[in-house]
Amino acid sequence: MKATEILSIEHRVIETMLTVLERICQDAESNHKLNKEDAQNAVSFIRTFADQCHHGKEEGQLFPAMEAKGIPAEHGPIGVMLNEHEQGRQFVRGMAGQIELAAQGDSSAIRTFTENAHGYVFLLRSHIQKEDNILFPMAARVMNEEEQAVLLKQFDLVETDHMGAGTHEKFLAMAEALATKYGVSTEKIAAAASCGCSHHKH
Ligand SMILES: [Fe+2]
Ligand SMILES: [Fe+2]
Repeated sequence: MKATEILSIEHRVIETMLTVLERICQDAESNHKLNKEDAQNAVSFIRTFADQCHHGKEEGQLFPAMEAKGIPAEHGPIGVMLNEHEQGRQFVRGMAGQIELAAQGDSSAIRTFTENAHGYVFLLRSHIQKEDNILFPMAARVMNEEEQAVLLKQFDLVETDHMGAGTHEKFLAMAEALATKYGVSTEKIAAAASCGCSHHKH
């Protein structure tokens, strides 16, 4: 398996959670109250699984490996991706800061939460498209099999050393529980759980 295939499998899980987040917002609007626990879990998933772990692999391993092969970091697609990760963090801060009040039914907090959530969903969907369709094929063109294998090993270390054993699985389980609750397909989460990455225990 190529290292970027792991990232694409993770994209499918993140997309599932983006749909869950939209449903959490719909519910908040119709109930005039945000579900605190679900919103906190969604934000925690985004911060840990999507940002620290997934974007961490891109920023810490994949992008530097592509730069080493001559793809410029500052300008061009890598710079755009880094910029979008940062924009995403701002949206997440915007959501997180409103959860308490929105859960008490404060209508302006609900509005700010949903605006930031929709901004995040829109940003991430197009970000993921760009990576899957432009950036990852570019990585596949410039990196040979051996370099891909090194990257794959580094990804495993991010999971075991940096995130801690079991963290990935814990967040997959959380995504599955939320998707089930909000009527979103869990099919892509199941595929991620059995993708054959070496950090998954089978
Ligand atoms: Fe990214
Ligand atoms: Fe990504």
